[in-house]
Amino acid sequence: MDFLRKTVVITGAASGIGFLCSKNFAENGANIAMLDVNTENLGNKVNELRALSYDAIGVAVDIRNYGQIVEAREKIINEFGSIDIVVNCAGGSSKRIWKCDDEFINVPIEVFDWGIDVNLKGPFYVAHAMMKQMVAQKSGVIVNIGSITGEEGCPSAIDYSAAKSGVMYGMTKSLALYGAQYGIRVCCVSPGPVLTRAAMSNMSTLVGRAADPQEIVDLILYVASEKGAFITGTNYLIDGGRNIMRIKKG
Ligand SMILES: NC(=O)c1ccc[n+]([C@@H]2O[C@H](COP(=O)([O-])OP(=O)(O)OC[C@H]3O[C@@H](n4cnc5c(N)ncnc54)[C@H](O)[C@@H]3O)[C@@H](O)[C@H]2O)c1
Repeated sequence: MDFLRKTVVITGAASGIGFLCSKNFAENGANIAMLDVNTENLGNKVNELRALSYDAIGVAVDIRNYGQIVEAREKIINEFGSIDIVVNCAGGSSKRIWKCDDEFINVPIEVFDWGIDVNLKGPFYVAHAMMKQMVAQKSGVIVNIGSITGEEGCPSAIDYSAAKSGVMYGMTKSLALYGAQYGIRVCCVSPGPVLTRAAMSNMSTLVGRAADPQEIVDLILYVASEKGAFITGTNYLIDGGRNIMRIKKG
């Protein structure tokens, strides 16, 4: 897969799947714009790629803040001249980040606001801001990142599940329908448990293990590449068969 001189914007690029994505796109020739709210980790990870002589810039962005995303877009265009691929990777479970174990009705609404803002509104904001450049270019690819939780639901992560479902289906399909007239593809990759955190190995799958992050990143690169040119408006579960376990059990 060749991403030579393509500009790839990755949110949540300072950690986990987002960082590995940044590294893989860079290894395949892309210019990388790494966006994250965690400025300390971001600085370290950008330096790690630059030390390997890759063209990477870091932009401190909280994806809940539309103005910051627009500023980032202008900075990226100034630096690299185009925006060819966007990976909407920033996200996470609000109850984990807020260290809140209460049941649904007792969770403070601020926790759920965070969950919806980061996992639904943030990717929406990013798509809205970055697509402006893609429309002008008449080309582009957006890869959203969903989750098995958006498919199967979860009583202890209702905000996360609702937000991810919205990204995986309504948002991905609608953006693909809108973007097609400008040569823009939009699709979604939705992982089951991924070993960016050791705890994910506790989630069961049909293949009996959690994913290596590289397995998820390989699919993201494929759908973003020219090999994926026929792919748009669809969601890809990559979950080790977790979703069909319910069917298997009857
Ligand atoms: N790890 C899994 O098992 C798993 C499973 C399914 C889906 N996912 C999804 O994959 C994506 C990446 O997961 P990961 O495990 O690599 O996560 P991670 O926690 O390692 O990385 C997430 C990154 O997003 C950044 N971020 C959080 N809020 C932000 C904000 N408001 N603005 C900008 N950046 C922000 C964090 O600082 C962090 O660097 C997420 O969208 C997650 O929901 C992960």
